[in-house]
Amino acid sequence: MESSENEKSTLHTQICDQLGIQYPIFGFSHSMEVTAAITNAGGFGVYGATRDMPDAIVERLAHIRSMVGDRPFGVDLLLPLGLSNKNDWAEAEAQLPEGHKAFVKYLKEKYQVPDPTGKSFFSSVVRSNEFFEAQVEAVLKSDANMFASAIGTSRDIIERAKSAGMTTLSLIGSPKHIKYAKAAGIDMLVAQGYDAGGHTGPIGTMSLVPQIVDAAGDIPVLAAGGIADGRQLVASLAMGAQGVWLGTVWLITEEHRLSNILLNKIFKAGSADTIISRSHSGKTARLIRTAWSDEWEAEGAPEPLKMPYQHVLIGDLLTGIMEHEVEPLMYEAAGQGVVWCNEISTVQKVIDRLINEARGALKNLR
Ligand SMILES: Cc1cc2nc3c(=O)[nH]c(=O)nc-3n(C[C@H](O)[C@H](O)[C@H](O)COP(=O)(O)O)c2cc1C
Repeated sequence: MESSENEKSTLHTQICDQLGIQYPIFGFSHSMEVTAAITNAGGFGVYGATRDMPDAIVERLAHIRSMVGDRPFGVDLLLPLGLSNKNDWAEAEAQLPEGHKAFVKYLKEKYQVPDPTGKSFFSSVVRSNEFFEAQVEAVLKSDANMFASAIGTSRDIIERAKSAGMTTLSLIGSPKHIKYAKAAGIDMLVAQGYDAGGHTGPIGTMSLVPQIVDAAGDIPVLAAGGIADGRQLVASLAMGAQGVWLGTVWLITEEHRLSNILLNKIFKAGSADTIISRSHSGKTARLIRTAWSDEWEAEGAPEPLKMPYQHVLIGDLLTGIMEHEVEPLMYEAAGQGVVWCNEISTVQKVIDRLINEARGALKNLR
């Protein structure tokens, strides 16, 4: 790959030196292999541990370390505030409305979803303070270099992560979140726009990033949401971000090993085929549009329940859908950048492509 010194230095931002990485590309993934491959390709891999039991977190972070050696990687937990204290499945289940249970039964029968043979995170854990604390303790036992979480994470947890020597990072979707991030002493921010896969707020990436950069002061900002092309990396740097944070683009890598059914849905999807729905967790999240989201949007369907009850409601059904690959109902979180995810790739190829496209965009600017 040929490049001038100027292009190299434009794409090598301050955060690269601060964290000891080659490219300002941060990648979020629920796959250990993807996380390690991003780090080994010169980016910064962040492992999403939110669906892992605490014991598994300890083992998996040690496994990632064994794959990356001294290179840096991070771990992300979803720690929403305001949920109940106890991880008590029976108590949460007792509160599910009869109409909602009847709707889930209707979906199971209509699509002939077999019972799952075992339990998954979605059918056994109530998102609750008790469970989050056990996950945080597991993360703090690790030697991960970064602790990432969405805004709302308590100041106490941020302080403990910093005392454990971790860089702390918060994902935010609105300028109004900045004051909490500053008060908690967050080291880095991800400005994650509406275009993003997964839980997301109402402001588009192009409008959000410059606002967060202006309000963040000295705190470095990464841009996220719909980014899957090198031109968007250059645009993000032009908006004052020091790098980009990507989620959707890794789903189509060999390392991720996503099921072929989901891969085909992603390959076929354009930006408008990703929709915002509360049907997954109870909070707004961008998902690939499938019969699952259509059923929850249909006339007469109940409103999804609030977190954590939606996932207690659908946990068994979702586990059955994924285990038995019930094609019409299978879905995954994905952002509007899905339009650039058209064929199976590798993490190294994705990073090479992003850097090549970014260098091309810089040349065009001149
Ligand atoms: C399949 C998938 C799962 C995600 N799960 C989480 C999660 O557990 N925690 C989290 O902080 N962000 C999660 N995200 C959001 C990412 O951290 C990231 O902000 C987002 O993917 C960026 O937008 P993009 O998908 O358009 O690249 C997820 C995203 C995807 C695509």
